[in-house]
Amino acid sequence: MNTKSLAIVGTQWGDEGKGKITDYYAAHAEMVVRYQGGNNAGHTIKFDNKEFSLNLLPSGIFNPNITNVLASGTVIDVIQLVKEIKRIEEQGIKDYQLFISDKAHVIFPYHIQMDGMFEDLKTEENKIGTTRKGIGPTYSDKALRDGIRICDLLNAKKLSSKIKDNLAIKNKIFTAFGLKTFTFEEIYQPYYDAGQFLKSKITDTSRLVENFLKANKKVLFEGAQGVMLCLDHGTYPFVTSSSPTSSSIPYNVGISPKLLSNTLGVVKAYSTRVGAGAFPSELQDQMLANDIRIKGNEFGTVTKRPRRIGWFDAVILRHAIRTSGIDFIAVTLLDVLSGLKEIEIVDSYLLEGKKIDFVPSDVEIFEQVEPVTFKMPGWEEDITQVKSFDELPQNAKNYLLKLEEILEVKISTFSVGPDRSQTIEIKEVF
Ligand code: IMP
Repeated sequence: MNTKSLAIVGTQWGDEGKGKITDYYAAHAEMVVRYQGGNNAGHTIKFDNKEFSLNLLPSGIFNPNITNVLASGTVIDVIQLVKEIKRIEEQGIKDYQLFISDKAHVIFPYHIQMDGMFEDLKTEENKIGTTRKGIGPTYSDKALRDGIRICDLLNAKKLSSKIKDNLAIKNKIFTAFGLKTFTFEEIYQPYYDAGQFLKSKITDTSRLVENFLKANKKVLFEGAQGVMLCLDHGTYPFVTSSSPTSSSIPYNVGISPKLLSNTLGVVKAYSTRVGAGAFPSELQDQMLANDIRIKGNEFGTVTKRPRRIGWFDAVILRHAIRTSGIDFIAVTLLDVLSGLKEIEIVDSYLLEGKKIDFVPSDVEIFEQVEPVTFKMPGWEEDITQVKSFDELPQNAKNYLLKLEEILEVKISTFSVGPDRSQTIEIKEVF
């Protein structure tokens, strides 16, 4: 069936500017669905001289005509979600539509403490550098079948017995490691109350999304993180605990794969990574890396950590395009490259002297690859006020055209600044 859907996925290590691109396309959408991850993601959206920060709420939340969905593949810290809802309400956003999957799993304080505990216990080289929001332990409990779902929050008896079982195990582990234990009372009441607060929004979202798609309504799927942080197809174990790929959408939402149409990959004009793990295109020139970091405000939205900076890596991009079925790309933060004399692009790697054009599955081998780059002349001009592709300086045009050529994918969109008005559409995809 031909549907009007657009999946927006990050193609690198997250922080590609997906929030901004999703916000742009959300203007055309009738529904926006977050399908994985939790409040490990975060972005700020600027419009009407106001700044809004979102961690969990889908990007269509500011438009009263858009139905927003947190699908079953997400993990939800309901205490944070309630705070986020109250915060946007205080900022004047009162008229919004939000639905939460009754099957999504709940992040509890013991998950957050475990996330930190696992990190602290690991040897330095094995630390993942997680956001410590409890994401991994919550998805682990889901797989162990110890998880507590959103629907359980509405069932006092079930919630109570599940919390008791979880605490019996978790408190033993925390005691063994000399960490704080949790009482039933301190967990049960706030989580039951959060469930009551969210009650009117909790439903079987899989049928809701399917109905929208079958009615030919415009549905946008909003990915968090990026393909290189995918649990299966990223740089395991330095990844998140869900799959941001568009191939994961049908499973994470509970719909047929036949109901999906276009996928748009969001691509930063260079590369960044937070946390540990292989990063072949990482800049060795710390001064240059620092300039780009400051100009691009490359500090984590959730953890405020400085991001590592690298050149654009076409090998990573081809991997993302292949595993996520990307039809078009949106290039973000192009303005950050203004003022550079030369810009490098990583096009392949050298592994033990041999040229390779794929991402090795073993992260230790991936760490050994050397980037093979080529250079492009940069541009001096400030491009933040540019309104079309034609207005770009010739070398910026050449850079974008080169990306299309080496990735064999069309650019639909590029952006030259943080404001909504600084997103430029070249080709209509939604
Ligand atoms: P977790 O998702 O908190 O378990 O963190 C696992 C890895 O994913 C760490 O390297 C994090 O820095 C990274 N990560 C998680 N969410 C994001 C994101 O939204 N942007 C960038 N990196 C992220």
